[in-house]
Amino acid sequence: PNFTIVGMSLLGASGDLAKKKTFPALFGLYLQGYLPANTRIIGYARTKMDRADYLNRISQHIKNKNTPKVKTTLDQFLVQSSYVAGVYDKDDGFQRLEQEIRRVEIETGAKDRLFYMALPPSVFIPVANGLKKNCYTNKGINRLIIEKPFGMDLESSRKLSDALAPLWREDEIYRIDHYLGKEMVKNIMVLRFTNMMFSSCWDKDHIENIQITFKEKIGTEGRGGYFDEFGIMRDVMQNHLFQVLSLIAMEPPASMSAEVIRDEKVKVLRAIEPVRESEVLLGQYGPSEDGVHPGYLDDETVPQGSKTATFAAATFYVNNRRWQGVPFIIKCGKALDQQKVDIRVQFKEHGGNLFPGLSNARNELVIRVQPEEAVYLKMTQKLPGLGMNTVMTDLDLSYASRFTQLAIPEAYEALILDALNGEQSNFVRKDELDEAWRIFTPVLHKIDRGLVPVEIYPYGSRGPRSLPDFIRRFGYERGSMA
Ligand code: BG6
Repeated sequence: PNFTIVGMSLLGASGDLAKKKTFPALFGLYLQGYLPANTRIIGYARTKMDRADYLNRISQHIKNKNTPKVKTTLDQFLVQSSYVAGVYDKDDGFQRLEQEIRRVEIETGAKDRLFYMALPPSVFIPVANGLKKNCYTNKGINRLIIEKPFGMDLESSRKLSDALAPLWREDEIYRIDHYLGKEMVKNIMVLRFTNMMFSSCWDKDHIENIQITFKEKIGTEGRGGYFDEFGIMRDVMQNHLFQVLSLIAMEPPASMSAEVIRDEKVKVLRAIEPVRESEVLLGQYGPSEDGVHPGYLDDETVPQGSKTATFAAATFYVNNRRWQGVPFIIKCGKALDQQKVDIRVQFKEHGGNLFPGLSNARNELVIRVQPEEAVYLKMTQKLPGLGMNTVMTDLDLSYASRFTQLAIPEAYEALILDALNGEQSNFVRKDELDEAWRIFTPVLHKIDRGLVPVEIYPYGSRGPRSLPDFIRRFGYERGSMA
């Protein structure tokens, strides 16, 4: 490792996110030798528990604990982990945290500090404040990682930003959008800006439409309380999928510096008008057709009669020279027929009619983010044989068969390592956040007031029945698309 942060404090250490994502990622990095051997992780949360309880809790989600290497490394990792219990809105807890950090710093000789807030938004500001007041060092670096949701709309997001700004400098704040840590999302810029065959035709003259699809097979299953307040548009579209859209649509940055990259992403967002109600389709899942899976409203954590959308499709236009008139269609939903995230760039028809039976030769570039990372290009070929028949087939780069020796890192591993290295490119800047909220806020407010209809779809289906019509209005549909 070529960074100097050894002491990491994890706020919200007894929560779900910490257990499921943050600890496994920290341990994964440690196991692979990406963290200094003497790394110290200090957990902080409200729950009063002793160290043994805490260690037990955080090792729960570590995989392959029975293999010797994992076991010995985990034992070491746990020896270097400690826990401080304290509330989020009083100084004394943070003072105890400060004492623990100092103890660690004396032991390790390190001076730089990373704070990771895996916390609900209601305590963001009190904690950011408590940390600044009690645990901020003037002897070294301070960095603060924050998790979404960053507000509910433009106004609440600005409020958070305004409260944070006097406490922490923008170059100290790392807002996580874990989609930016995904291998295939990181691949977008490489694909676009190093391959002439894509960079030369990445525009309205060659591209008909772009579709970004996020599908999950499971419903909210017990997370309904959190989810219901937000809905699918706030949960994944405004953040994760919009980050993907920015990377697909941005102009080439002049360099790979974090500020330059984020400047370009902000410029694209500025060229997008707020999404209109007529360009949104909402759905909520009901019970599955066979009656096995309960509907959203049957989830006990969901308020009765909720109109919250678990599915949304929306179309956006980027009003600049490159993209004028090209629809960007985003679809996302829970309790659908498959689990999949992909980006489809649908090129225009080639035109001409040289080959019999071939009326619409067009290419489609597919970037499959998950599962089974792949890039493939649909293209027309001669069907092998004596005739001159054509067939649409794939030029297929599936990672599992091409990069057999290379593991694909977890998004959280990639991002935590970036934060340790002071690399901000894959973190969300304040103005990016503002622009994304500007685009979504008017329609979200209408949705919140129940002014946008919500169509019920069966659990495990392809989504609302009117989805194919919706897509047809803007783009071109092939069998596998919806
Ligand atoms: C989270 C959302 O941010 O992203 C979840 O809150 C969603 O609702 C998750 O399931 C999807 O992430 P991934 O990495 O599983 O695609």
